[in-house]
Amino acid sequence: MSAPPAAVHAKLGRMDAIHALAARLRRARHILVLTGAGISAESGIATFRDTQDGLWARFRPEDLATPEAFRRDPALVWRWYAWRREQVAAAQPNAAHRALVELAQRRPVTLVTQNVDDLHQRAGSTDAICLHGSIMRSICSVTRLEIGADWLAAQTGEPPRSPHHADGLARPGVVWFGENLPADALDRANAAARDCDAVLAIGTSALVYPAAGLPALAQRHGAWFAEINPQPTPLTPTADLVVAQAAGLALPAALAAWEDA
Ligand code: APR
Repeated sequence: MSAPPAAVHAKLGRMDAIHALAARLRRARHILVLTGAGISAESGIATFRDTQDGLWARFRPEDLATPEAFRRDPALVWRWYAWRREQVAAAQPNAAHRALVELAQRRPVTLVTQNVDDLHQRAGSTDAICLHGSIMRSICSVTRLEIGADWLAAQTGEPPRSPHHADGLARPGVVWFGENLPADALDRANAAARDCDAVLAIGTSALVYPAAGLPALAQRHGAWFAEINPQPTPLTPTADLVVAQAAGLALPAALAAWEDA
């Protein structure tokens, strides 16, 4: 008997959706989890596209998150990422981050994140695949080699010079619009999508590719797909289950419902 179409699931009550999620994850062989900024929202980290306080509602990505923007005004970009790094440093992993650590202790999980914060890692997901890099790392703008905190602390410039190249500046170790994702990370994410039998998309607007293409790739290889997001996304109509709730509520609730699911 095939699963009822998503529209029907959307009518499931909150707890029914949670039980359906727990039941399917409980019999999963390999779970691919894709996360976005929404999973860190409950830690006080602004998302990108939430209308009111999303970063892109307040700042223009083309002014701050592109190689061109850095060439145009490296100090402005450096200061903006320094501001975001402070927010990340002041934040704590939330119940959703912790629930994914626990899920990985119950079933094989591959965690792929678009987030550049280190909240998954601080929660204990030390093997998270970071598709968009990390805001906690700095690299050389010419060689892309990592720049250590000691060197950065000893420099005065904004941004600091790079120790790796005479024309190099320190830049955030994140993937900017128009830049390629780290090939190894993307290969591992695609391999997990082809192998998994269940895929979760948590807290992502599913607008930025190639990350947003992972659930569909997994489904093409037979995986069951659930979306956890209070708001609909372009992926919602394709989901086998829609859990329209905050991740910090839905994930712990699914783990709590595990035994009776
Ligand atoms: N729980 C689950 N989902 C949530 C929560 C929550 N508590 N709060 C918000 N969301 C959802 C929003 O409804 C939205 O769909 O999280 C999503 C956040 O979407 P974006 O801000 O677009 O973030 P993301 O999908 O991660 O963006 C992808 O775009 O700007 C670039 O490189 C950046 O990695 C980022 C990429």
